[in-house]
Formats: sequence, C-alpha cells, structure tokens
Amino acid sequence: SWTPSAFVDMTVSELKEKIGTDKVILGLSGGVDSTVAATLLHKAIGKNLHCIFVNNGLLRKNEFDSVLDQYKDMGLNVKGVDATDRFMDALKGISDPEKKRKVIGNSFIEVFDDESSLVEDATFLAQGTIYPDVIESISVNGPSATIKSHHNVGGLPDFMKLKVVEPLRMLFKDEVRRVGAEMGIDQKLLGRHPFPGPGLAIRILGDITLEKVRVLQEVDAIFIDALREWHLYDKVWQAGAILLPVDSVGVMGDERTYEKVVALRAVESTDGMTADWVDLPHKFLQKVSNQIINRVKGVNRVVYDISSKPPATIEWE
Ligand code: XMP
Repeated sequence: SWTPSAFVDMTVSELKEKIGTDKVILGLSGGVDSTVAATLLHKAIGKNLHCIFVNNGLLRKNEFDSVLDQYKDMGLNVKGVDATDRFMDALKGISDPEKKRKVIGNSFIEVFDDESSLVEDATFLAQGTIYPDVIESISVNGPSATIKSHHNVGGLPDFMKLKVVEPLRMLFKDEVRRVGAEMGIDQKLLGRHPFPGPGLAIRILGDITLEKVRVLQEVDAIFIDALREWHLYDKVWQAGAILLPVDSVGVMGDERTYEKVVALRAVESTDGMTADWVDLPHKFLQKVSNQIINRVKGVNRVVYDISSKPPATIEWE
C-alpha cells in the first residue's frame, strides 16, 4: 500500500537516476505543491536545484520576505526576484478579470525566462503539478496548453525547451501534504489555504494600483491573523478579502466620510469545485470588522459574502 515514506524513498532515487549531475530550475510560489516538489528535488540533487521565487507585488502582506526566509531556513537554493514594478506597469489601467490573468501570466513568463537563462546549462524544468492539474489540463486544454497559451509572442521561451520533471503528478493534494510532513516541512506551511496565482489582482475589482494593493493587504492580514487567533483557520478551506470599487458614506466623529467597502469571504470545500460559505461566529465578525474599519485608512464598511458555489464562484473575478 502507498505510504509517504516509501514514496519519498522511491521518488528521490528515481530523481537521482533521471537527473544525475544536471541542473534543474523550479519556480516556487509559496504554496504547498511547489514547496513539496522542491524539497523532494533538494533531497535528490541538493544545490543543483535552482529555485526562483517571483514577487509579483500581489502577494499577501509581508509574504514575499517571510516565505523567502522560510525557504532559506529549509536549505533551498532560492533566488527571490522582486518584479513588483514590472507587474504593476503591465497591469496599469486594466479592469477586465481575464485580461488581468493574461497580463500576469505573460509577465511571469518573461521574468521567469530572464531569471532561468541566468542559470547556465540547466537541462530540466521542475514543476509542482499534481494529479488534479494533470486531469484538468488534459480535459480543458490538452496537455500543458495552459502555460503555452499565455505566451504567444515570438516562439517558446528558453525555459520551455527544458525537459520537464514533475515528481508529484500522480498525487492528490492530501497525499502531497503527507509527503511534505514526512520530509519535515512545517505544518503551518503545509496547511496554508489555497491562494490564486494572480493573487490580490483578482480580489481588487477594477484597475490595480499600489495603494489599493496596500489597503487590501492590510485588510486581509487582519482577517487571516484573526482566523488563526480564534483557531478558525484550519476549519476554513480558503479565506480572503475583496476590495470593492464602491464608495459608501460613513461618519467619523462629526465628519462625513466617503470611503471604500471591503467584502470578507470564507468557504468550506474539498476541491474548490463547489463551496459553502462558512458560518463564522458573529462575535468574530464583529471584532474583525471593527479592527478593519479602525485601522485601515480608506475603508469605512465591511460586508460578509454569504454566497455558495455554484452559482457564485469563490473569487469575485
Ligand atoms: P473560483 O473563483 O473559480 O476558484 O471558484 C476556485 C479556486 O481556484 C482559485 N483560482 C485561481 N487559481 N489562478 C489560480 O492559480 C487563477 O486565475 C484562479 N482563479 C481562481 C481560487 O482561489 C479557488 O481556490
């Protein structure tokens, strides 16, 4: 029968055999899958694994620095690349959700291509693809069409000419978590909620500015920290905040305010295909709402999303 320790032993020896003394490039996202894939490869080939972690400027508050530190503590050979300006420039004035995704995908490929070309004579590209990704990409696009469709300017990027290695492609998410735990990866990292690749860009309705990102990062951090404090984080499958393109009237002291509305969303799910909103304690919501309105400048109203999927999606874009 399948056990995490047998999987680790077998996969590490297969990777050693397959890769030998060649160099491998891997894009880390901060998520569970890429982190577990990197840890397996690190066990197999050590410093010949070159990881790249890109800051698109759309991560959670302090996430780039804290995740980068965590990766370094794990002994991974990782280069952090802060490409915030590049993503912000590319996103300027764009409000359409699918256009945002395209622009972010293209910018990521450009940054990754530049960075990976600095790793001389790499021969493999490693990815944290898991079994549900394999199924989805075959049924929706044909194998690996997703990444290619983003890049329609002048042929394939260099890194895509590399041989692909995907050590997790036969595993489901819970198995990936068990493999990660077997290798000693921090539970806090393994239990992280899913977070979309386009990040906060699809939680800011309308166009993206640095100021809006900063506001949403503050709101999101208050919400997520409170979920942890109240021991609710692990009971929720995914949670986050959405910045609405709406101003509403409020009062502060004797002054009338006209400021932004944020929505909070927390769902229960097993695979993200269907989801129910979580009935968070009213006391909790009351406290979080007060903290957000008192601490985050520019926000004077908080609402809670009570829509299930379907027909609503988890993200608002
Ligand atoms: P929806 O909004 O479709 O989300 O109900 C289902 C799950 O997918 C995530 N999601 C994305 N992940 N790129 C990603 O990497 C995307 O463009 C994207 N859109 C949605 C969402 O966070 C949820 O976990």
